[in-house]
Parts: sequence; C-alpha cells; structure tokens
Amino acid sequence: MSTNVTVTGAAGQIGYALLFRIASGQLLGPDTKVRLKLLEIPQAVKAAEGTALELFDSAFELLEDIDIYDDPTKAFEGTNIALLVGARPRTKGMERADLLEANGGIFKPQGEAIAAGAANDIKVLVVGNPANTNALIAQSNADGVPAARFTAMTRLDHNRAIAQLAQKTGAAVSDITNMAIWGNHSPSMYPDLFNAKVKGERAWDAVGDENWVANEYIPRVGKRGAEIIEARGASSAASAASAAVDHVYDWVNGTAEGDWVSMAVPSDGSYDVPEGIITSFPVTTSGGEWKIVQGLDVPEFSRERINNTVNELQEERAAVAKLGLVS
Ligand code: NAI
Repeated sequence: MSTNVTVTGAAGQIGYALLFRIASGQLLGPDTKVRLKLLEIPQAVKAAEGTALELFDSAFELLEDIDIYDDPTKAFEGTNIALLVGARPRTKGMERADLLEANGGIFKPQGEAIAAGAANDIKVLVVGNPANTNALIAQSNADGVPAARFTAMTRLDHNRAIAQLAQKTGAAVSDITNMAIWGNHSPSMYPDLFNAKVKGERAWDAVGDENWVANEYIPRVGKRGAEIIEARGASSAASAASAAVDHVYDWVNGTAEGDWVSMAVPSDGSYDVPEGIITSFPVTTSGGEWKIVQGLDVPEFSRERINNTVNELQEERAAVAKLGLVS
C-alpha cells in the first residue's frame, strides 16, 4: 500500500526538515510506503530537485517515488495527504489586506486543484501563514470536498505550550496531557491550563500562579515564533516540521485514550465559537476523522481570551470575503 503525499513550498526551510521525516516513515507509520509530490514556484523547482537528490541518496525504504511540479493541478492529482507549506510572507511595508490577497492567489487555486483531482480520502494540513485563513480560502474553493478535510496547524503552539509547562512545573513532557490551544495561529492563540493536566492534576492548580500564566506563560507561547527569529535569524523550521508530522500522524492514527490534541478545524459552533472560520480546538481523532472535545470548562479567564482570538479570525474572514476569496 502506498500513499501520495503532496508538499508545497518543498524547497523552503520547513520543506527541507519535513521531507526527510515523511520519507523515513514518521508521518504515516512504518507500514506505509510514500510517493512524494512536490510543488514549488518555477524559480524554486531546481532547488526542490536538489532536495529530491538528497532524499534519493538517503535510500529510505518507504520512499517509492518523488515527482516535482510547478503546476498545482498536477501536484494534487490523486493525492491523499496535502501539506500546504508554501505561502507568501509579509514583506516590509505590506498591508494585511495585501498579504491576504497575495495568499488568496496561492490558496484559491490550490483548493480548486484539490477539488479537481485529489483522492477521495484527501486530508489537508495548512502550515503556510496566515494558516487558519489560508485553510479557509482553500476549503471555500474546493467544491465537493468535505470541509472537515481542511485543517490548519496549531500543533507547534500546542507543543510549545507543553514544553513551557513542563519546564515550569519540573514535570516530564510525557506527564503533561490534555493541552488545548484555542483560536488562531498567531500571538492571540490561547493555551488552556484549566483543562491541561500535569500528572493528572489540573495544570492551573499545579502552577498555582495566575500572574505567571497571564503575564509570562501565555505571551511566551504566543510570541515564541518571534523569539526564535531573534535567536536564529530565521523562523522556526525543524520544530514546525515536527509539529506538522505530529498533526498528520495523530489525524491518521488516532489520539491516545483519554488525551486530545490541538488542531485548527472548521468551527461547528461548539463553545459558542461562530461557524465559518477555521480555528483551533481540542480534538480527538479516530479512523482518520477528528471530533471537537465537548463539555470542557471555559471559565471567564478562558472565555475572554478565546473571544479575542476568535474575533481576530472573524476579521481575517471578513477581509478575505471582501476580496471574494470566500463566500
Ligand atoms: P520559506 O520561505 O523558507 O519557504 C517557503 C517556500 O514556499 C519557498 O520555497 C517558496 O518558493 C514556496 N512557495 C511560495 N509560493 C508557492 C506556491 N504558490 N506554490 C508552491 N510553493 C510556493 O518558508 P518556511 O520557513 O519554510 O515557512 C513556510 C510557511 O510556514 C511560512 O508561511 C511560515 O510563516 C509558515 N509557518 C507556520 C507555522 C505554523 O505553526 N503554522 C510555523 C512556522 C512557519
């Protein structure tokens, strides 16, 4: 059995870290052979070819084939898993509306190409920023594909939130369960310590310091991307690739009993989050499908912050609706 995996932005930083993880079997597990389909813009096809040579040289047992395209229709034909990493970064002096429009020019045709030719079981993860709204654009332009197949990545925020909490409490990363990121993949995202657990105890109680949560923890997780850029001189790449692998692996293989993960998915109105946006929730997965966890505690502290990040997504939605990119 082999699975077609399309990666866009394959010649970029994240692509370079991601492709080797996929080819080694970490995305889908050790029993699934992979055929990679790489999509790049024409100017970067040569660099993608270079990465393909290195993949070939790694002699991965699970890697059946690699094809490289500059045409989305061909890159998504027959694909089962699509990782949309390539996006238009914000350049100096660029207004938000221009950024959204430039990304609309990428994600609208990609959504159309997915609708035209992807496999029936297509699963899409959008990594390229602004990830939630780019996913919404792709989903809105993919007629006939169930909306639930379009997700955006907040798993890096989720992993960062676990790592920071483990460091604060002295617990091991494996002692932390039930972490949830709510909202947008942006500094407004909300990591929820009311439902997260440290060795089974409510994380809010295990920390016991509201001031630290509000004024250190949440901003630290939210602005971690900027901290990495400051230190590395380039944005997070290997940790983003690692989070993308975690997201897809869990979507395909299921979450552990009693635990959940964070995924940005189309809202169904749960927790009074309006429909029409792709926003992060705690989800469980089984049989290749995700479900929003129901019945969690949302105290006032959380409510305010969830509303804030959700409002930001509604504003992004309104901006792309104005541009005719979503209906
Ligand atoms: P990069 O600039 O190194 O690579 C992006 C690649 O995408 C380039 O090779 C470019 O040629 C390609 N590309 C641009 N337009 C394309 C198109 N229409 N079709 C196919 N390929 C196209 O950027 P990097 O560091 O790999 O990051 C990729 C994206 O991921 C960025 O938007 C970044 O902001 C985002 N990101 C998202 C995270 C998340 O947690 N959701 C975390 C880290 C980064």
